[in-house]
Amino acid sequence: MSEPRLLWRRNKPSIRNYTVAVLSTAAALGIARWPEVHLESAPVSLFLCAVMLSAWLGGVGPGLLATVLSAAAFAYHFVSPIHSLAVDSEQMPRFVVFVLAAVLVGSLSAAQRSSMQSLRKAEEALRETQAELAHVTRVMTMGELAASIAHEVNQPLAGVVLNGNACLRWLAGESPNLAEAREAAQRIIRDGTRASDIISRVRALAKKTVTESERVDMNEAIREVLALAQAEARRNKAAIRTELAGDLPPVRGDRVQLQQVVLNLVINGIEAMSTVQDRPRELVIRTQTGEAHQVRVTVQDSGIGLDRQTLERIFDAFYTTKPEGLGMGLSISRSIVENHAGRLSVVAHDGPGTTFQFALPTYH
Ligand SMILES: Nc1ncnc2c1ncn2[C@@H]1O[C@H](COP(=O)(O)OP(=O)(O)OP(=O)(O)O)[C@@H](O)[C@H]1O
Ligand SMILES: [Mg+2]
Repeated sequence: MSEPRLLWRRNKPSIRNYTVAVLSTAAALGIARWPEVHLESAPVSLFLCAVMLSAWLGGVGPGLLATVLSAAAFAYHFVSPIHSLAVDSEQMPRFVVFVLAAVLVGSLSAAQRSSMQSLRKAEEALRETQAELAHVTRVMTMGELAASIAHEVNQPLAGVVLNGNACLRWLAGESPNLAEAREAAQRIIRDGTRASDIISRVRALAKKTVTESERVDMNEAIREVLALAQAEARRNKAAIRTELAGDLPPVRGDRVQLQQVVLNLVINGIEAMSTVQDRPRELVIRTQTGEAHQVRVTVQDSGIGLDRQTLERIFDAFYTTKPEGLGMGLSISRSIVENHAGRLSVVAHDGPGTTFQFALPTYH
C-alpha cells in the first residue's frame, strides 16, 4: 500500500520540474514571437532564462530538456530557413553559439543548485548531530552521576544491613551479648551517617550548578536552541513559531544551562505533538517582559496535553510516560530555573496542548 505512494512522492517533483522546463521554454517562445515586444531578432536571452530557470529548479535533466526545446524553437522560428528545423550554413555559427551558451548556462545553474543542496544537507546533518550530542551528553552525565551516587551510597548501606543482622544475632539466644550488640549498633549509626553525608554532598554539588553568571539575551539564546531543534521538529512534521519581544532586557545566569531548559521544553512539546492528527502541530515560543523586573519565557504546544494525574508528577525525577524517556528533562529544568532564582511551571491556556512557562529576574 505504501510503496506506490512513496514512488509517487519521489516522482512528483521531477514531473513538476520537467513541466516547468516545457512551460518556461514555451513562455520564452511566446514572448519572443509577440509582435508588440519586438524581440524577433534577439530572442536568445529569453531562451537562456528558460534554461537557467529549469536547471536551477530541476537540475541537469530539466535543464537539458529546456536546452533541446529552446534549440529546436530557435532553429524553427528565428534561424533561416524559417519554419524548418534545418539551419543555413551561414547561420550555423549563430546557432552553435546559442546552443553552447545554453549548455553553459544550464550546467552552471545545475551545478549551483547541486552545491546549494549539498550545503543544505550538510547543515541539516550537522544540526541533527548537535541535537543528538546534546541529548547524549545529558544522558551520559545523568547516567554517570546516578552510577557514582549508587556506588557511594551502596557501600554504607551494605554495612548497615550486615551490622543489623549481627546485632540481631548478638541479641538472640539465652544470654544476649549486649556489648557486641552495642558495637554493631554503633557501626550502623556510623554507616548511616556516612550515607547521609554523601547525599548532602550531592545536594551541595547540585546547588552549585550555576557556574557562569553572565548577561544572557534570552531571545538570542532561544534562536540558537531553535537551530538545534528545527531538525527534530521537521522529523515530527511540527512547525515552530516564535513571538520574541523586541525590547527584552537581559537576564543573569548560565547561558548553556538556560538553553538546556528551553531545549528540554521544546523537545517535550514536539514529542507531545507527534501523535496529533486532527490539528496543526504547532509550537509557539514567546518571550515577554514580566512584572517586577522579570523576563518570561513561554513554550506552548498543541500536543496531547496533561491529565491531572500526570500533571502532579511531571517534575518528579525519573517520571516518564515515554518508552525511551529518562524522566529527567523537567526535573533538571526546574532545578536549573530555581538556581537562577526563577520559577518553572505549567500554565493554563485555551485549546488543546500544554504551556510551560518560566520567569527569570532581569540583569542589573
Ligand atoms: N509538553 C508536554 N505535553 C504533554 N506531556 C508532557 C509535556 N512535557 C512533559 N510531559 C510529560 O512529563 C513527563 C516527564 O517529562 P520529562 O521531560 O521530565 O521526561 P521525558 O521527556 O519523559 O524524558 P527525558 O528525560 O528524555 O526528557 C513526560 O514523559 C510526559 O509524560
Ligand atoms: Mg523530556
